[in-house]
Amino acid sequence: MDNLDQIVSEARAAFAAISDPDALEQAKARFLGKSGQITELLKGLGKLPPEEKKTAGAAINVAKTAVENALNKRREAIRKAALEARLAEEALDVTLPGRAEAGGGLHPVTRTLERIESLFASIGFEVADGPEIEEDFHNFTALNTPEDHPARSMHDTFYLQNPDGSLADKVLLRTHTSPIQARYMQAHVAKYGRLEKMPEIRIIAPGRVYRVDSDATHSPMFHQVEGLWVGENVSFADLKGVIADFLKSFFETDDLTVRFRPSFFPFTEPSAEIDVAFMSGALKGRWLEIAGCGMVHPNVLQIAGIDPEKYTGFAFGFGPDRLTMLRYGVNDLRLFFEGDLRFLRQFA
Ligand code: DAH
Repeated sequence: MDNLDQIVSEARAAFAAISDPDALEQAKARFLGKSGQITELLKGLGKLPPEEKKTAGAAINVAKTAVENALNKRREAIRKAALEARLAEEALDVTLPGRAEAGGGLHPVTRTLERIESLFASIGFEVADGPEIEEDFHNFTALNTPEDHPARSMHDTFYLQNPDGSLADKVLLRTHTSPIQARYMQAHVAKYGRLEKMPEIRIIAPGRVYRVDSDATHSPMFHQVEGLWVGENVSFADLKGVIADFLKSFFETDDLTVRFRPSFFPFTEPSAEIDVAFMSGALKGRWLEIAGCGMVHPNVLQIAGIDPEKYTGFAFGFGPDRLTMLRYGVNDLRLFFEGDLRFLRQFA
């Protein structure tokens, strides 16, 4: 029976050396398979005399059980090792700090635009919009701007090109938000033109505008806010009242003076530049130009299909970038458009 003990220890050693499940099953065949060593011994029992058969059979079965146990133990060990390897591989380090969601903030100019919108909404102005790629007609012609006006020159206006490099037919990046006036009036007339009495137009239109210009106080892209009020008996006095009220609300102070300085715009007559001066604070006493304005030119009303004998209106165009600089004490316009988070975070 020394042979049996040897088979058992051979099997144990063979199994212990294996860590691959398929190889283990192959090793099993060597001992317990159809012609495995234990199986062969069992087959040989028949040849033994009956008195030896019983003891030999019992001894072989003990060895067989020992081999089976060794096999099962090894199977289990291999399965466990594989599981542990997989767990280690897929482990999550739950002690790593989480990725916090960065709190966003509104751009300071966006804050100004929203503030202007809501202040004008409180006196019945609707927010209007228009395309940034604009036609020459709405940007200039509909606003009573003659063909030879300097603003139309290639030096001030970004004109668009066709894919072949030729100049697109009178298509440009809008140089101001005033074309929104022209578009809105036209659409308004199309909607109400046949009525006896046209409802008033009261709009505020913020947006990006573009000019060939770049230094500390000029950016090729900047913002404007257009305002327009057209109705019966709308006067320059109304314009002054609306603007003065707005500026006091916007800057949250009564401690400012507003001045209307005669000026020229093709689309208004008379026209004025709006200056503001603060009576206290760092900017005390300095006149700062913040908008253009005037009474809508009769030609502009007429082109839109509005009878200038019956209706009048005022319009204005603010520079909200400038208003933002004044409100927050920012001294370089370019800071708004560089996207430096150290600057922008101060407003979040
Ligand atoms: N569009 C003018 C500009 O870009 C600003 C302006 C002036 C707008 C007078 C108006 C206005 O609506 O009435 O300089």
